Amino acid sequence: MTSENVIVGFNGSDDAAVVRLNDGKLIVQTVDFFTPIVNDPYQFGQIAAANSLSDIYAMGAIPKFALNIVGFPIKDLPKEVLIEILRGGTDKAKEAGIPIVGGHSIDDIEPKYGLVVTGEIAENKLVKNNGAQTGDALVLTKPLGTGIISTAIKRDLVSDEIVKNAVKCMATLNEKASKLMHSFDVHAATDVTGFGLLGHLSEMCKASNVSAEINFDQIIFLEGVTGLINDDIFPGGSKRNLDFVSKFVSFSNTYTHAQKIMVADAQTSGGLLVALPQSQVDEYVKKCSELTDLPAKQIGSFTPLSENIISVL
Ligand code: CO
Ligand code: CO
Repeated sequence: MTSENVIVGFNGSDDAAVVRLNDGKLIVQTVDFFTPIVNDPYQFGQIAAANSLSDIYAMGAIPKFALNIVGFPIKDLPKEVLIEILRGGTDKAKEAGIPIVGGHSIDDIEPKYGLVVTGEIAENKLVKNNGAQTGDALVLTKPLGTGIISTAIKRDLVSDEIVKNAVKCMATLNEKASKLMHSFDVHAATDVTGFGLLGHLSEMCKASNVSAEINFDQIIFLEGVTGLINDDIFPGGSKRNLDFVSKFVSFSNTYTHAQKIMVADAQTSGGLLVALPQSQVDEYVKKCSELTDLPAKQIGSFTPLSENIISVL
């Protein structure tokens, strides 16, 4: 593999690796796995698989096949739990139109599950995170707050209705939001996961040499998030995210610490962040919301590079 055929590797800040094959086609590959964030093993399998596929979709690529990665305490938990996790993953892969063709499992203290996903894309259709332009609109395709809700689930603090909503959001594939990008002049995209909205947006800004303004009031949060944050329920990762970004993110002084954590919340299987011309944003948001049955929203726009990489207005 010569280095000129590595299109996106460790030096890029995209999450998936992109490599050019001899015939000029690009292979896109990614790996993701984590510990359970919901109690239901089938739902955990669905969410882990949707999350693993997300880095493929964030680049506008098409997944082709996947492999399972499994850690499981085989002596401490009934085998049925593992079967349900794998069934959730298999069903999600099926929905994405791909087979799971193998994998690897180990005995582990805590369950872990995810996929290695291989996809492909024509070089002229590849969407990277480094092309956002001043004046572009910034769209987020899913509501925020899955980290806060998952923490509340672990402490048994939320109603079934709130859990159901959050699970639907996390288990929804970014497939439709991704495919739709090819009908618009999308300049850049990434997906929102562990580093949260501010972390992933700042990577997009740095790679694109622009800054961004986001409007807190335009961000849609999952049902239950506001109440939980006011009770100080949030994951340690979201606090660490906020600490990390505070060097280059400015908040207008009306925001409380709780609200800042909400915007920095570590996401599992979050939506796509999409940069596209302001003139196309209404159409993209409308179609995306219809196709995914989740509210996509313009949450801000890109501005010339300035001292603060992100300003929350
Ligand atoms: Co990832
Ligand atoms: Co990603």
